[in-house]
Amino acid sequence: MIEEYTEATNKKYTEKLKNRVIELKKKRNAVIIVHNYQRDEVQEIADITGDSLGLSKAAIKIEADVIVFCGVHFMAETAYILNPKKTVLLPVKEAGCPMADMITPEALKKKKQEYPGAPVVCYVNTSASIKAESDICCTSRNAVEVVNSIKEKRVIFIPDKNLGYYVQSQLPDKEIILWEGFCPTHIRVLPDQIITTKNLYPEAEFIAHPECNPDVLDLADKITSTGGMLEYIKNSKKRDFIIGTETGMLYRLRQDNPDKRFFLPTNHLLCASMKLTTLGWIVNSLELMVNKVSVPEDIRERAYRSVGRMLAISGEKKWVSISGN
Ligand code: 13P
Ligand code: SF4
Repeated sequence: MIEEYTEATNKKYTEKLKNRVIELKKKRNAVIIVHNYQRDEVQEIADITGDSLGLSKAAIKIEADVIVFCGVHFMAETAYILNPKKTVLLPVKEAGCPMADMITPEALKKKKQEYPGAPVVCYVNTSASIKAESDICCTSRNAVEVVNSIKEKRVIFIPDKNLGYYVQSQLPDKEIILWEGFCPTHIRVLPDQIITTKNLYPEAEFIAHPECNPDVLDLADKITSTGGMLEYIKNSKKRDFIIGTETGMLYRLRQDNPDKRFFLPTNHLLCASMKLTTLGWIVNSLELMVNKVSVPEDIRERAYRSVGRMLAISGEKKWVSISGN
């Protein structure tokens, strides 16, 4: 029977898809890992949600056979780098991060030749081949800590120039060689938007992701990763917050803080890649076991070193043995 498609129909099919995900999770012994920018209905069925660092840490401890990574390609790859014996699924194989595509191993090798002896710190938003060419990985949450742990004064930081700029501002004794990469979503935040929103809500604090441009970061009351934002806002006594990151953040922020108010500086803070994942594609990948993400073993081993060194700095004891050099 053909029925009229209404709001109620939509709700009914969403519930059906959610139930199907639950059935398939059992059948495949799978865990659903979800980044903070994913669609609300995807966050609703998550076993684990978090920022890049939180999800990498969670990935080490997973016992399930299958990891369904609802995020972008480099995140699923990182989960595989840490769990090569498991099946990692990225529900939509086209979900890539444009910033990660702004650097190639060849271009990085050239940069290393220009600055001999300078260690390379790569943002986790990079491919496994770039991680393999780097000395240590970092996320937006621990970038300052990671760069500060390096004994050399001069460091090559790739690929996000804005995160690199922020690290430089926090560590003036370092000389940070920047790469010209950026996030097409975060650069849409403009200083005027923050000033206008602050004029409307003078009590509001502006919380910015370090991928925003430097002139925007200069206006921030707090600069941190998506996971850092959740923690900071939960513990804050303030009521109003201007959120300088992707809209998906509002789901958890509202869940965790029903009495607080959130304002976005612009309605254009959408990461198209993050929004590709839907319940339907999650069902599809689990039903057919398609869109597996893996990395050739020689690259994985080298990438694992750079991710492992980061995890050692971020307090994961398991990795300490490889962090000495
Ligand atoms: P977080 O690690 O802060 O979640 O950031 C990931 C990301 O892609 C930001 O655009
Ligand atoms: Fe990449 Fe930006 Fe999307 Fe994050 S928000 S995944 S950095 S494009």
